[in-house]
Amino acid sequence: MLHLTHVLLLFSVSAKTLLAADFVDLVTFDKCGSDKTCGWSLENDPVMGGQSHSSWTVDPSSGVAHWVGEVKDVPSLKAPGFCWTKTSNYYLHPVFPDASPFTHLLMRVKSAEAYSAWKVSFAADTINPQFASFKADFSVATGDWTTVAIPWDNFSNKWSSTTGEPTKSCKDDSSVCPTTKNLRDIKQIGIWAEGKAGSFDIEILWIRAGNSTVQHATI
Ligand SMILES: *[C@@H]1O[C@H](CO)[C@@H](O)[C@H](O)[C@H]1NC(C)=O
Ligand SMILES: *[C@@H]1O[C@H](CO)[C@@H](O)[C@H](O)[C@H]1NC(C)=O
Repeated sequence: MLHLTHVLLLFSVSAKTLLAADFVDLVTFDKCGSDKTCGWSLENDPVMGGQSHSSWTVDPSSGVAHWVGEVKDVPSLKAPGFCWTKTSNYYLHPVFPDASPFTHLLMRVKSAEAYSAWKVSFAADTINPQFASFKADFSVATGDWTTVAIPWDNFSNKWSSTTGEPTKSCKDDSSVCPTTKNLRDIKQIGIWAEGKAGSFDIEILWIRAGNSTVQHATI
């Protein structure tokens, strides 16, 4: 006879199976073989004598990407520059898995420096994947691994090219929000340290589309 604890066990196994289908992986770093960038590339203040710098390495055995650098003021602008890491080859990149059934971008990250000006972006259906990407702020406390969950309506594709801050927010103007089609057509994903001078040190385990934070906290 099936004991009650077995029934409960079966329930929790099937609940986990359901939860596992509750998100889609957009980026992982565990299948890149000897490619130490995992197909990502950096852009650190490319213009006007900017001095921000960073390095990006992927450890395929742990599946963790490690990005370390420093955002510095651009001397000619006397304002902070940026460091940007992103998936390469936007125009040739296969479309990422469909993010449109979900409500949030999720990132599993770990920060070792108190840096406060993080942004994440994705580009879709544009010929200008850098400046017409959808971008949102996020924050990460220093310490252990944590999951950041950013709702799609925190993203805007109208933002200042000097600060990265939205000039129109999706909550105020729906024309700058990602559409269902955009969420189906993502061809680039990037992370920015932008708009504030300072050192940063962040590790990234995965980037997903999903519906909430809680169920993702430990996986
Ligand atoms: C995620 O949220 C959307 C919008 O509320 C909903 O339509 C969808 O069914 C949810 N997906 C899952 C797997 O819960
Ligand atoms: C999303 O935006 C709101 C402000 O509109 C902000 O309070 C919230 O912290 C943002 N979410 C994340 C995860 O950064």
